[in-house]
Amino acid sequence: MTSTVNETSAFLAACRRQPVSHTPIWVMRQAGRYLPEYRELRSKVDFEELTRRPDLAAEVTLQPMRRFELDAAILFSDIMTPVQGMGVELEFAPGPIVRAPIRTDAQIDALPQLVPERDVPFVMESIRLIRPELPRGAPLIGFAGGPFTLLCYLVCGKPSKEFGPARSFLYAQPQSAERLLDKLADAMAAYLRAQAAAGAQALMLFESWAGLLAPPEFERFALRAVRRTMAALRSTGVPLIYYVNQGSALMESVADLDVDVIGVDWRSPLGAVRKVLGPGKAVQGNLDPAALFASSEDLKRHADNVLTQAGSLPGHIFNLGHGIWPETNPDAVARLVDHVHDRTRK
Ligand code: CP3
Repeated sequence: MTSTVNETSAFLAACRRQPVSHTPIWVMRQAGRYLPEYRELRSKVDFEELTRRPDLAAEVTLQPMRRFELDAAILFSDIMTPVQGMGVELEFAPGPIVRAPIRTDAQIDALPQLVPERDVPFVMESIRLIRPELPRGAPLIGFAGGPFTLLCYLVCGKPSKEFGPARSFLYAQPQSAERLLDKLADAMAAYLRAQAAAGAQALMLFESWAGLLAPPEFERFALRAVRRTMAALRSTGVPLIYYVNQGSALMESVADLDVDVIGVDWRSPLGAVRKVLGPGKAVQGNLDPAALFASSEDLKRHADNVLTQAGSLPGHIFNLGHGIWPETNPDAVARLVDHVHDRTRK
């Protein structure tokens, strides 16, 4: 460690673009079905109960932290959990299926504001249980869905490749879309503020379906709502992360968003992304989740490519470009984590 390291956590330091003792790594969807210990618990308890029982949510959050030398934990929950707290009825099968998709102004107006400690108290209780149990001083990331990504599920009512009804909704009823996005932006701001108050040490918005939009619609709808959420979170003082899936065409639009870190998928090389984002942003990513199926030697080579692309300036958090696949061998994750640490340790 050098004396210039002024955050004890490599993850938090990298978020703030400070020098680090090693490149920190965590894995999107690191708590989940690729882990036998998760499947074992999940065979007895349904997914929603796992998220609603703080003791179980804490256990599942900690499972990957015990198995691997990960530099950060992420709360075990789902992007639709706070939406359920707003009274939207849905089930996980395994993706979210909304009983009555939201398409009318009356439905939008009827959505109540989220009061996190009243509507989803178990989330904050989970955070309070997790924090003292985290190994190696690893910080805890709280998260929510990006307002546009939530709109995709609410308007379509189910997972989809193209989210056609959500995209046509933006064009057919733009004012209604903005109203819905504003509501979701304010709800996610309240939700993430409550997570920070309960002990979350960084806050991340998952914009999983950003790549469906052309830049003008991304700016008008998705990004405007994200600005609204993020502006309300600045005073928490914790690093803010915006993950933009399939966002290679959108990087210029996000460059002036007031967040600390931009998460990117594997389709855009980090070198090019950093050029567009400029020196004021850290980057998180971006190994293809499929690379975990390579041979040990090839996996190292693919990880090295990501490190080389990220360059030598501070401000890189190693991650996958999207969530880990359920079919992944956990041993490959262990090898990846160890390699990134060995290769970057100073
Ligand atoms: O380790 C972690 O990252 C924390 C857990 C987490 C889950 N969902 C648990 C989960 C996180 C961060 C999420 C976010 C989430 N949920 C996103 C954004 C990230 C992304 O992948 O783009 C999205 C789009 C959702 C919506 C969602 N929830 C889908 C599409 C699905 C089904 C597909 C899938 O990946 O399982 C879910 C269900 C879900 N969320 C499961 C888990 C572990 C599977 C439930 C089960 O065990 O059966």
